[in-house]
Amino acid sequence: MRSFLSYLIPPLFIFSDVLASDYHEQLNLKPLPQSSLLASFNFRSNTSLSQFEAHNFRYFPRSLGQILQHVGTRELHLRFSLGRWDAESWGARPWDGTKEGGTGVELWAWLEADTEEEADLKWLTLTNALSGLFCASLNFIDETRTTRPVMSFQPEGDHGSTLDNMHLLHGVLPHEIVCTENLTPFLKLLPCKGKAGISSLLNGHKLFDASWQSMAIDVRPICPLGQECVLQIEQTIDMVLDIERSKRPRGNPIPRPPPGHDLKCNASKPYHSGDTCFPSDFAEGEDWSLDRIFGKSLKGTCPLTDPDAPPVCIHVPERRDIFTTPGASEMKSPDGLSRCYQVPSEGDFSMMLPRMSREGDNAKTVADETVQPETPLLYAERSFTGHGQDRGGVQSILTNPSPDTIVEFVYMESLPWFMRIYLHTLQARVEGTSGAKDDIVEEIYYRPALDRVRGTQLELRVRIPPASTVFLTYDFEKSILRYTEYPPDANRGFDVAAAIITILPSTSPGAPPSRQKTSNLRTTSLLLSLPTPDFSMPYNVIIFTSTAIALAFGGVYNLLVRRFVGADEGAEVAGGLKGKLTLLVAKLSAKFKGAKGKVE
Ligand SMILES: *[C@@H]1O[C@H](CO)[C@@H](O)[C@H](O)[C@H]1NC(C)=O
Ligand SMILES: *[C@@H]1O[C@H](CO)[C@@H](O)[C@H](O)[C@H]1NC(C)=O
Repeated sequence: MRSFLSYLIPPLFIFSDVLASDYHEQLNLKPLPQSSLLASFNFRSNTSLSQFEAHNFRYFPRSLGQILQHVGTRELHLRFSLGRWDAESWGARPWDGTKEGGTGVELWAWLEADTEEEADLKWLTLTNALSGLFCASLNFIDETRTTRPVMSFQPEGDHGSTLDNMHLLHGVLPHEIVCTENLTPFLKLLPCKGKAGISSLLNGHKLFDASWQSMAIDVRPICPLGQECVLQIEQTIDMVLDIERSKRPRGNPIPRPPPGHDLKCNASKPYHSGDTCFPSDFAEGEDWSLDRIFGKSLKGTCPLTDPDAPPVCIHVPERRDIFTTPGASEMKSPDGLSRCYQVPSEGDFSMMLPRMSREGDNAKTVADETVQPETPLLYAERSFTGHGQDRGGVQSILTNPSPDTIVEFVYMESLPWFMRIYLHTLQARVEGTSGAKDDIVEEIYYRPALDRVRGTQLELRVRIPPASTVFLTYDFEKSILRYTEYPPDANRGFDVAAAIITILPSTSPGAPPSRQKTSNLRTTSLLLSLPTPDFSMPYNVIIFTSTAIALAFGGVYNLLVRRFVGADEGAEVAGGLKGKLTLLVAKLSAKFKGAKGKVE
């Protein structure tokens, strides 16, 4: 009896130890203009740091926890992204861009090490281990793709005095294509593993069909004042789904352009006519339902989640009706712009937004029933200029839309070594209303590339005056690679990682709360074409010789192994199996006849 009790008691203690608020998950839905819907999934859990160090992982995924412990990782950020956030129509990014990565895979971490060499070794172990865990080619982040950012990243967690021997390393793989095989390991890290709760909505077919998507994992220690330190893991998935496309009938999986009479045009444009159409911002009034958009309905709640936090929230004004499956309770936020739903713990949940009320498509109804997207702090775009096989240029256009505030940010580029930049050609030109035009670049950090050893790292601290645009340009030279250094698809071009823009918190005292935090922004990645030899010749030679060898080998082998027999000897010798079978049948029939004879 005693031993039975001692078995029983520890789990009870563990349960009383687990605070209800140690795991939290929430889905935020936000209709965006032009038939889009932003879905942000957030999963967060706390594990006490002392228990974590004693290998009691609790909510922390063991597979990841062991890797982090093995290489002494103090803080880790991993991003998988696909597509482009269209800031001009969708406005500010979710989470202020802090949970977003450049196209492909991006990883940065603070590692504990005494020397730089030790940090490099640990980084190599970390990338290799994570590559196996997430089925991504993270092991291709070698020294040529690794940088040590100086101004761009700051630790998010509380590290106290341990910050001294911490090394920040950052690596990015712009060519990596994020797909379903990366989603499965991501879901496995969750306590409910995609079986219950909001993660049951996640489905590779919908996630990777999105116009833009980003998956993030952040691990950081947090030490609240006067309490024990906890290790927090936060997993986020943001995606922009196309409502129109999700309504495509099941039998018609191929997206085809809709016929002309189905296009929704803005008829108030002066050039609107039978053959010209400007798409109207109809989507916020579009009707949709959760199960239709995600292809399945939400399966109850995750039993481990904080029961007080509502799992589903939606940002639409109060005036708009929403229908849900029975059993869900609605909570409206005081500002009337969003509401949350407490979902029944068992059974399916879905919700439906009917069309916007039809009492005329007048502007007032639209304004009352939609939430306008927020204007971002900065718009950024980057492109190549010049078309040579030997030289080129890069131009970044950064626009501060605000009429009265200065934006200060760090612009970071990590360029491959075969793109040799000429730093003296770096120029920042301001166009705008305000006076101060010089000295917008306050600080430059530049680490030149070494051929085949490391890439270029360029960080600039820039201040943009209100309502102005900065054109940042520089020239570069293209290297010629050795023929073994070209990838198999050399004619596709070489991906150049996105520029990372970190908007620094405003220092002015009266700044609104949204300006007092760091926010991020990434440009799209670029495709650089290098002078490429014609690889079809060696390919043809390989194919031709392989074919010749295969043919010759087949003939010679045949001649060597085949036994030649005369046609009349065939029945005895060649009929191996057939002969045996005939013999067996003859024997059996003889036996059978014998038996019959006995009975008679
Ligand atoms: C985790 O700990 C932090 C810091 O104490 C706290 O703010 C948060 O609510 C806790 N729970 C979760 C699920 O994040
Ligand atoms: C049509 O375009 C005008 C601007 O030309 C805009 O103000 C209006 O909101 C648009 N209407 C719709 C329904 O998109």
